[in-house]
Amino acid sequence: MLKAIILIGGPIKGTRFRPLSLELAKPLFPVAGFPVIYHHIEACSKVPDIKEVILIGFFQPNDALTRFINSAQMEFKIQIRYLQEYTALGTAGGLYHFRDQILAGQPDYFFVMNSDVCGDFPLKEMLQAHRKRVKGSYCTILGIEATRQQSLNYGCIVENKDTHEVLHYVEKPETYISTTINGGVYLFSPEIFQPLELIFKQNLDSKYSFDPNITTSEVIRLEQDIFVPLASSGKLFVYDTKRFWSQIKSTGAAIYANRHYLAIYQTTHKDRLATNGEGKPKIIGDVTIHPTAQIHPTAVLGPNVSIGKYANIGEGVRVRESIVLEGATLQDHSCVLYSIIGWNAVVGSWTRVEGTPNDPNPNKPFAKIEVTSIFTNDGKLNPSITVIGSNVQIPSEVVILNSIVLPDKSLSGSYKNQIIL
Ligand code: GDD
Repeated sequence: MLKAIILIGGPIKGTRFRPLSLELAKPLFPVAGFPVIYHHIEACSKVPDIKEVILIGFFQPNDALTRFINSAQMEFKIQIRYLQEYTALGTAGGLYHFRDQILAGQPDYFFVMNSDVCGDFPLKEMLQAHRKRVKGSYCTILGIEATRQQSLNYGCIVENKDTHEVLHYVEKPETYISTTINGGVYLFSPEIFQPLELIFKQNLDSKYSFDPNITTSEVIRLEQDIFVPLASSGKLFVYDTKRFWSQIKSTGAAIYANRHYLAIYQTTHKDRLATNGEGKPKIIGDVTIHPTAQIHPTAVLGPNVSIGKYANIGEGVRVRESIVLEGATLQDHSCVLYSIIGWNAVVGSWTRVEGTPNDPNPNKPFAKIEVTSIFTNDGKLNPSITVIGSNVQIPSEVVILNSIVLPDKSLSGSYKNQIIL
């Protein structure tokens, strides 16, 4: 029997996802028609032995999370539970804290997945590789190839190319170590609780020496506290993949992930993709439309568009490379490019909403989406996709370019490169 844990973090993170994360926790944000972690659970559901998925975070459970868990359980016929940390315990503190729950039923192995990564997760292949390792090995890490420069933003792994043993691990190094990065997906053997217990006890003992950076001695960082010392011990391995993988840290990354998940549907779920036909809107490339959305047949959608529940798309509307969330209205002849239109927002007729893609450099093999902050060093907004918050009203015949509009605003004119508070 196997289990899977998804680390969903908590409310203090997700700042590059604002204002959307103010309304809905980032792991529940819809990408390609489904919440981010739905894609994780769907990948788990394809590994026959996974009998339980445990979400670990430090969110107060709310209706949206409960509804999501109930409907995912029904759909995938897997037990799904949320376990709440009393405070942020780090990427491994929660695993140790809830060890009895994780080990209940004696799973042979368990996956751990960061919620803020997306991809074509090779879980079955990781399992196969892990099973072949020497008995007593603790973990197989999903390894991703990155560029030299971008690797510095991730955990970096030096591996033995023949045995795939981790020889050296550095979390977000200052200088170049390796282009193999930690993809934030792991397969653990239950024996991992031995080093976790050791670190936990060490931290507990040292709690009497005051360190202002550590709020609780129960914090364990999987990367620095476990992977760094375990490198070269013969217990840590990598499974390298060249399949699609990306972080989802920003709204620009959500648009990028949306495109890739839609492309994956071409082989896995053609039924989720809209098709052309009599009386239907014109579809270009990959588009997903919720069955409850109302789309005028003269609208042109795509490529890479997701239209949410009860959205209303008027006559002659053009949408590409965008996510239109539940209940949003795009009035006649409006145009939406590289944008996210928030829940129940209204875009007036003949209005243009446009953002700038943050795609990885297509000329650099293995380039990932850039980890940029919202602002430039001189305090200006970095050009990125346009985000229209929930319930925003945009009038007719205006242009909103590279801007972020906070929820509930009624705009009166055009805006460019601004955060509208
Ligand atoms: N439950 C819980 N509790 N989850 C947490 C906590 C915590 O205290 N802290 C972080 N997480 C979750 C986040 O929600 C996210 O899904 C994941 O753990 C990683 O969190 P970050 O702390 O933001 O790390 P990172 O994304 O910068 O780097 C990690 O992921 C990279 C791959 O995306 C590291 O593991 C890197 O080595 C790795 O390359």
